[in-house]
Amino acid sequence: MRNYKIAAIPGDGTGPEVLAEGMKVVKAAAGKFGFSLDAQNYDFGGERYLRTGEILPASAVAEMKQFDAMYLGAIGHPQVKPGILEKGILLRLRFELDQYINLRPVRLMPGVETPLRDKGPADIDYTVVRENSGGVYTGCGGAMMQGTANEVAVQEMVYSYFQVERCVRYAFQLCRDLHKDNPWRGLKPEERAAGKTGQLTLCGKTNVLTYVFGLWERVFHEVAAEFPEIKTDYCHVDATCMWMVKSPEWFDVIVTENMFGDIITDLAAITQGGLGVAAGGNINPAGVSMFEPMGGSAPKYTGLGVINPVATIMAGAMLLRQVGEAKAADAVEAAVAKTTPKMKSQAAGRMGFSTSQVGDLVAAAL
Ligand code: IPM
Ligand code: MN
Repeated sequence: MRNYKIAAIPGDGTGPEVLAEGMKVVKAAAGKFGFSLDAQNYDFGGERYLRTGEILPASAVAEMKQFDAMYLGAIGHPQVKPGILEKGILLRLRFELDQYINLRPVRLMPGVETPLRDKGPADIDYTVVRENSGGVYTGCGGAMMQGTANEVAVQEMVYSYFQVERCVRYAFQLCRDLHKDNPWRGLKPEERAAGKTGQLTLCGKTNVLTYVFGLWERVFHEVAAEFPEIKTDYCHVDATCMWMVKSPEWFDVIVTENMFGDIITDLAAITQGGLGVAAGGNINPAGVSMFEPMGGSAPKYTGLGVINPVATIMAGAMLLRQVGEAKAADAVEAAVAKTTPKMKSQAAGRMGFSTSQVGDLVAAAL
């Protein structure tokens, strides 16, 4: 029997509650599709840090490499200063495991309310490929004369050709694979006739950040030549935000640099119903990837069973797809699509069901 080893990182606050539901559903999918999952728990997070003073054990990165995938609840603790756990756990794992893609599908599930007037599931259905290893997150910079009126602070957007190329290539391949049998809905008849099957939009700022996006734009066109079936498009990041609200149906796959991707995917998340439903994956296509709900640990709701586990369950579907169980992933997504119309809302405490009841409903729909 096919077996996958999963590192489960429940984390802080409501992380353990939502991860329990995610595990429930992926295990149900495994049973149905004839494979098994072995989960091993890791206690990375704020509690462990406060207890032991250690942010991440020295062996963590090497240990994670032995798993087929990682599944994370949420990291963040009210008694730990912002930045420590984010940088010391989340970003360190992303960087050291070279999870250079942050994949964030933006999909409005049936019955989920969006703040965008007159838009429905057919309009809000695209994918953001966020570069996850470079840019300002590299930490290149410094500060001088701190605490004086002459203080100077620099934090630079750093990109190598290598980083940009592998990210852009991943986005083209994803766009091609998404539409292998199923051309993208937004293509015009003449584009379909010309053999186009999908659209990839580069989101940048070529009018100001000329060095960095000069590189991105050049690489984008260079790689595009290998994918004649993909229609290419370009949008400045500010305009991207506007179009994501006004005409989200224009987007198919968007590729962008790290911090732009961080910002636009929070906007995207609210258009798809909020952090309770938005999922993401930190992907190393040749290594171990980490899947997580986009929301945080929501500490004030801990133990109340009011947090929506749909984001974590959708992250579980992404995990299954990444390890090669596409049919199981499709089935989990379909089961979620059967469940969301029964829920009242996606906001904390207003679902009409408890966290574990939502997990039960999805597992039953499988
Ligand atoms: C995210 C988060 C992280 C990021 C933080 C917590 C470091 O906002 O996953 O989008 O900025 O990448
Ligand atoms: Mn973010």
